Amino acid sequence: MMAELQTATAAFGELALRGDNLVKRFGAVTALDGVSLTLGKGQILGILGDNGAGKSTLVKILTGFHQQTDGTLHVHGEETLLKSVDHARSLGIECVYQDLALANSLSIYHNMFLNREIVRRGPSRILRLVDHRQMRERAAQLLDDIGVHVPSVDLPVERLSGGQRQAIAVARAVNSNARILLLDEPLAAMGAREAAFIIDLVMRLKEKGGLSIIMIMHNYAQTLDIADRIMLMQRGRVTYEQRSANTSVAELMDIVRREYRAMRATNVH
Ligand SMILES: Nc1ncnc2c1ncn2[C@@H]1O[C@H](COP(=O)(O)OP(=O)(O)OP(=O)(O)O)[C@@H](O)[C@H]1O
Ligand SMILES: [Mg+2]
Repeated sequence: MMAELQTATAAFGELALRGDNLVKRFGAVTALDGVSLTLGKGQILGILGDNGAGKSTLVKILTGFHQQTDGTLHVHGEETLLKSVDHARSLGIECVYQDLALANSLSIYHNMFLNREIVRRGPSRILRLVDHRQMRERAAQLLDDIGVHVPSVDLPVERLSGGQRQAIAVARAVNSNARILLLDEPLAAMGAREAAFIIDLVMRLKEKGGLSIIMIMHNYAQTLDIADRIMLMQRGRVTYEQRSANTSVAELMDIVRREYRAMRATNVH
């Protein structure tokens, strides 16, 4: 098992991210109990695991939202303690959370430039004006580049489907020069069509190159389709890690089933 892990890791050359023995405690709760992970440049890592396994906590450490209690992080090869979300962002780490944080009543192009509006010099030297025309054009161009089709970038986000909204959030993250993109359950609560749309989008981003992606997922088959590698988390630990090509839905289900049976056995006695 150890040798397998090392092969899976070593084959990925330069690393975008590396975490060693990450521990996170919230008072008496140990959410992460020594998690190590690697994310190769240009790779997609899928993280699977039960409710409460520590997946979101891990993502929140990688985005600087939480700081680890113990363990180290390397970002683009350098040891780094991520102090805040802004700090992580300045290193090219962007996250799309499940509850998106889009402003629903604002237009698509407004959302894509939220908090980083394009401005131009106004009639006086001091006054700067938000350049709507340029933002509109850039938003349309960007969405076109990554293959997201919307009727008009002037549409308010609330008029879009869940999948399209998720696509806008991904496009916004990519637009901010993300080099590492973290997606926390991007397909949750989505129908098959919408999920396929997001999977396509992520694959297109991967093909463009330069972007390393971590996706937290629920569906084993979708994860094996999209990710180069998968990691299974259980009770704050990584219990299995493998290249997608070397495992299967049946094997993953087997591991989880064994764990479930072991837990039932301890609960009964
Ligand atoms: N801010 C917090 N304060 C206290 N405990 C927390 C906090 N955040 C997470 N936890 C606890 O840490 C553990 C891991 O939670 P986490 O949200 O990382 O799980 P998860 O794998 O993302 O689960 P889910 O699949 O349900 O999203 C849980 O026991 C949770 O209750
Ligand atoms: Mg979670």
